[in-house]
Amino acid sequence: MMDFPPNTLRDLRVSYELDQLTEDKLPAEPLALFQAWLQDALSHQLPEPNAMTLATHGLDGFPSARTVLLKGLDAEGGFHFFTNYDSRKGAEIAADARASAVFLWTQRHHQVSLKGIIEKLPRAEAEAYFSVRPRGHQLGAWVSEQSRVIPGREWLEERRHEMEARFAGTEIPCPPNWGGYRLLPHELEFWQGRVSRLHDRIRYRRREDGSWCMERLSP
Ligand SMILES: Cc1cc2nc3c(=O)[nH]c(=O)nc-3n(C[C@H](O)[C@H](O)[C@H](O)COP(=O)(O)O)c2cc1C
Repeated sequence: MMDFPPNTLRDLRVSYELDQLTEDKLPAEPLALFQAWLQDALSHQLPEPNAMTLATHGLDGFPSARTVLLKGLDAEGGFHFFTNYDSRKGAEIAADARASAVFLWTQRHHQVSLKGIIEKLPRAEAEAYFSVRPRGHQLGAWVSEQSRVIPGREWLEERRHEMEARFAGTEIPCPPNWGGYRLLPHELEFWQGRVSRLHDRIRYRRREDGSWCMERLSP
């Protein structure tokens, strides 16, 4: 094992003593707990509290993961995010809609992991969200052929100039290959760091009838 920086990684550890998860205080539905934890992350002003690591099934058979931003939750418990449908993740989701995601709020000793099925959001939702993005981000969505190999940074800058000229003085429409997905989880796990690494892990699993079964897992 590489010892660099000397003894640093070996001795890096945090003691988790902020809170606990007890079954009698937990809601019957995981979405309520997720919302409470997201609100907790927001009120503690954590950086990018809506960032989640999204894992899909790579076309090469390997798991494939990247960060995306949660942009909405719906009443059925769907987690919404936006991206380029022609990206690597877009191709992977088209081939296999099963996915998982992880939220990590380290300063709060909270982790939420979930898995479920991804489906596309209606075009109208993409257009509505696209219309409120900053103009530079809108332009970026037209410039980037996300996940393609490109010859260099200059290629991006040239395309940016092209797109700036193309949309000069007009509103920038939502690109046809840009849009949203919702990840509808059937399983969510809430992890609360506890003392001596005896963490609390509570898993919710959706039953056939739509209700949720709650179980405690060993840390
Ligand atoms: C904090 C953070 C937030 C991100 N949010 C998004 C996002 O909401 N949508 C997106 O397409 N990419 C987002 N990205 C970029 C992705 O991580 C990734 O590089 C990109 O989507 C291409 O992934 P793919 O090649 O697997 O399709 C974000 C990256 C970071 C670090």
